[in-house]
Amino acid sequence: MSHRLSPALARLALAVFAFQVVRARAQEITPEERARIGYAGPVSWVTIEDLPRPLAQFETVFWDPRDTPSLRRLLRSSPVVKGKEVLEIGTGTGLLALCALTAGASRVVATDINPHAVKNATFNGARLALAPRLEVRQVTPERSAAFAVIRPDEQFDVILSNPPWVNRVPASIDEYALYDASFQLMRTLLDGLPRHLRPGGRVLLAYGCVDGIRTLRTECAKRGYEVRVIDDTRDLDRLPEEFLPGMLLEVVVPARKP
Ligand SMILES: C[S@@+](CC[C@H](N)C(=O)[O-])C[C@H]1O[C@@H](n2cnc3c(N)ncnc32)[C@H](O)[C@@H]1O
Repeated sequence: MSHRLSPALARLALAVFAFQVVRARAQEITPEERARIGYAGPVSWVTIEDLPRPLAQFETVFWDPRDTPSLRRLLRSSPVVKGKEVLEIGTGTGLLALCALTAGASRVVATDINPHAVKNATFNGARLALAPRLEVRQVTPERSAAFAVIRPDEQFDVILSNPPWVNRVPASIDEYALYDASFQLMRTLLDGLPRHLRPGGRVLLAYGCVDGIRTLRTECAKRGYEVRVIDDTRDLDRLPEEFLPGMLLEVVVPARKP
């Protein structure tokens, strides 16, 4: 029996090798890129079906796409963001902002309190050639309200967030991804909607925490907003306190009287 590869197999092996070399190169960050974005730390690469290339994940930046399958499905399979101006609060790697841009959003402003996330989302936007339509803004712990870095007259057609879900004080920058002390981020987001959501606009939030969802309902009722569950038949009373996948909720703000 010959141990030589047939010409067809040899060509296939060469193609696989070349693909791996190209992929490895595509996943390198050059020293020039690192200098430009000001990030020297470790990088992991993660893949997601919604986007054509892997995303970089910087140190301390949140990654768990199980939070948002329904939200991402809605973005890619409906015209909800097509041609629209979108705000994403708490962007992390930029996942939802980049999904919105890939789904045809005309422009996305994305915010985050974690400085590595701001660099991370900016970097991923550039890698996916979406940078011209993406603006990432830094929030600070001192001024951390949902619209702290949004100008008073800025309005959006769609506001997206997969915010921290649990009512606890964050003890480190990475814990801001998980904990929203006294649900201040949630409350300030709801308070800012009449000013920053265009008439007829949509607010889409992902939560995977029973307390977070109950608080959202209570806070929305106080403001005269409605909460709708989208694409989900699970019963909140039967779910554990924290659960995955996250639930997609739409906050409906009534039309203002002229
Ligand atoms: C659960 S992670 C979601 C990240 C990303 N959207 C995703 O789905 O992968 C929540 C994000 O909100 C950010 N965050 C927490 N508090 C914030 C605030 N007050 N303003 C802006 N971003 C905030 C965190 O740093 C974190 O990146």
